[in-house]
Amino acid sequence: MRTQLSFAPLSQIATELLAVMAADTQTDKSPDAKPQPVLLTADAAVKAAAATILASGEFKAGANESILLHAPEGLAAKRLLLVGLGKQAKANANSVRNAAGTAVRFIKPRGIRELVLALPESDSKTLPHTATVRAAVEGAFVGDFDSDTYRSERKDQSTESFTLAAPVNSDKAALEAAFAEAIIIGESQNFARSLVNEPGNKLTPTLLGQRAALMAAEVGLGWEVHSTEKLRELKMGAFWSVAQGSAEPPALIVLRYEPEGVSDGPYTGPVLGLVGKGITFDSGGISIKPSDKMEEMKTDMAGGAAMLGAMRAIALLKPKVRVIAVICAAENMPSGTAQKPGDVQTAMPFSPDKPGKTIEIINTDAEGRLVLADGLTYARQLGATHLIDAATLTGACVVALGHINAGAFANDEDAWAKFNAALDLSGEKFWRLPLGEEYAEMIKSDIGDIKNTGGRWGGAITAAEFLKVFVEDTPWIHLDIAGLAWAEDSKPYIAKGPSGVGVRSILEWVRKYSS
Ligand code: BES
Ligand code: MN
Ligand code: ZN
Repeated sequence: MRTQLSFAPLSQIATELLAVMAADTQTDKSPDAKPQPVLLTADAAVKAAAATILASGEFKAGANESILLHAPEGLAAKRLLLVGLGKQAKANANSVRNAAGTAVRFIKPRGIRELVLALPESDSKTLPHTATVRAAVEGAFVGDFDSDTYRSERKDQSTESFTLAAPVNSDKAALEAAFAEAIIIGESQNFARSLVNEPGNKLTPTLLGQRAALMAAEVGLGWEVHSTEKLRELKMGAFWSVAQGSAEPPALIVLRYEPEGVSDGPYTGPVLGLVGKGITFDSGGISIKPSDKMEEMKTDMAGGAAMLGAMRAIALLKPKVRVIAVICAAENMPSGTAQKPGDVQTAMPFSPDKPGKTIEIINTDAEGRLVLADGLTYARQLGATHLIDAATLTGACVVALGHINAGAFANDEDAWAKFNAALDLSGEKFWRLPLGEEYAEMIKSDIGDIKNTGGRWGGAITAAEFLKVFVEDTPWIHLDIAGLAWAEDSKPYIAKGPSGVGVRSILEWVRKYSS
């Protein structure tokens, strides 16, 4: 997608389609109060062109509602598309993100390949220009993504040219910076989505490692991809216990980002460890899953993909903080070499002289926490002072929060405060769930240290408590994205399929540590 930022007057821009946002200014809540849609532009010619349709009552400026006018009078554009933000009082950067996606997804199936999107005119508290520029560009990239890459006669309908038209008198330098950032973020989110979209046979752990390495080399990250031998050397008994059942070897993916010019002396700042679950297919193993919807388990590497997307953005946006990513990729399969319920595994020891924690396997389908246990320990061993992990970890989290909010956990209030602030910028929905000693009790094992499931109740929390054992006292955030990694239905602003959830929030969390 070619992109540009324009400060030209809207009515003079010659284009296939000009999209302008509108909001409903009606504040009267009584049932017979009619919507009062208002265009968010000061351009008199655009307002005049839309006046009749706005007066008709056909268009209410509801969130992501759109209406198209051909040959709008007085405009250089061939078409004028109005896109609603909903109630003006509630409209924010996130509404703009969705409206931008809606505009892009409107043109795609109609064979229109270029679009000029007008930014809401006034630089208000709820719609500040820099935030709306970012949101609009991110939304456009996210909207442009479709998942049908394996159709043999696929027609590429992607948008060729996207222009964001900012008000003539705005702060150009600030908007240009926000614009450039947003392209990186939007592309990185789509990179994560493209990985999650890949079927298990096209994206084995080895191939995920190759994709990570290719990306790392492209954006200038340090990278290593290890396999079975390294797992053995590090005594990663938990990670290996999942990998051992598959004919496909595991991949231990490590990416490193080193900031430039933080100071001349040795680095004394925080080291952020990003740990991702990279199960390229989760059959459940010997505790095999029912076949209904099992195909969705190709998305069980979405946490790892989110970390890869975030690392791509980090490499290009260059925050002043060290970051290490560890992605544990494996297939969870039933076979003659697969682990069995009742087996006891020994997790990676933090220091070679100490024994690793022992884990009683109750259910081989609770595999994500096993690979993450060793991934978290390894990130700490590599020097991580703060941890964040992302995983499609539990169905219980989906039961609790549906497909609306992802689950979040934290053992540290400062790390949580930073993550919460990151959510304001990302617009992603995460809901904090509790941890606690009583939950930790539920995963004590009779035969060893801990067991890998704590029963049905509070399943998302006992899974988090399992991870917490391996985090020890390191400040840590855990993201359970099981309910949001894959959307079963499309929205006006995003295709169904992989969402790329987490990329933006993880990136913003990292940037909060930038010195
Ligand atoms: N990958 C699944 C969790 C999942 C479920 C992701 C639905 C996306 C959608 C995970 O490995 C799993 O199987 N968890 C089990 C844990 C249980 C055996 C304790 C679950 O949630 O059922
Ligand atoms: Mn599983
Ligand atoms: Zn899984």
